[in-house]
Amino acid sequence: MKTGDINKWRTRLLECHEQIPYDLLLLADETIEAINKYVFDSNIYVVEIGHKLIAAYVMYPLNENEVEIKNIAVDKAYQGKGIGRFLLQDASVRAKEENRQSLLIGTAAVALKQLNLYQKAGFELFDVKYDFFITNYPEPIFQDGVMLKDMIMLRKAIK
Ligand code: ACO
Repeated sequence: MKTGDINKWRTRLLECHEQIPYDLLLLADETIEAINKYVFDSNIYVVEIGHKLIAAYVMYPLNENEVEIKNIAVDKAYQGKGIGRFLLQDASVRAKEENRQSLLIGTAAVALKQLNLYQKAGFELFDVKYDFFITNYPEPIFQDGVMLKDMIMLRKAIK
């Protein structure tokens, strides 16, 4: 799929009676326990092909002005096709509709692809949550051979 095809994708709000797509959300977070800390107080937006959910993101309101993308995930078979970029754009639109001033997202300091993607989508680094992955998860988490420790926080102004 080429860049110009980004408008092909649509998101919709997952309804209360629908199952939480843990299989997707576990691509972006380590455990169901960790996901359950934010998912019930969030809106979950999904992309589907037929009845299959192929991507999702989770919007958690921090306060009246700020909302955070706590989880963003694309099914492995559909990664690298521009859907992640589309989801970030979609989240900005939703944040604006909610009259938020800022959209936040955090990722591990070693997650270079994600950091690159978020900055290309207009997010800027503004904080580091030191030892986040050590404090909030029972077991050490490794990515590309590096133990996750700190979380980089990024923010995008919604205009
Ligand atoms: N390696 C390096 N860069 C890549 C790769 C790759 N394998 N795949 C895509 N990219 C780059 C592309 O260059 C692209 O940049 P471009 O727009 O300039 O071409 C950019 O990343 C965006 O690519 P998309 O195709 O839009 O991204 P994708 O649909 O794969 O979604 C995502 C990105 C959500 C990170 C997806 O890969 C995924 O689900 N990964 C596993 C879960 C995860 O890590 N989620 C984020 C955790 S942090 C959080 O949830 C808050």
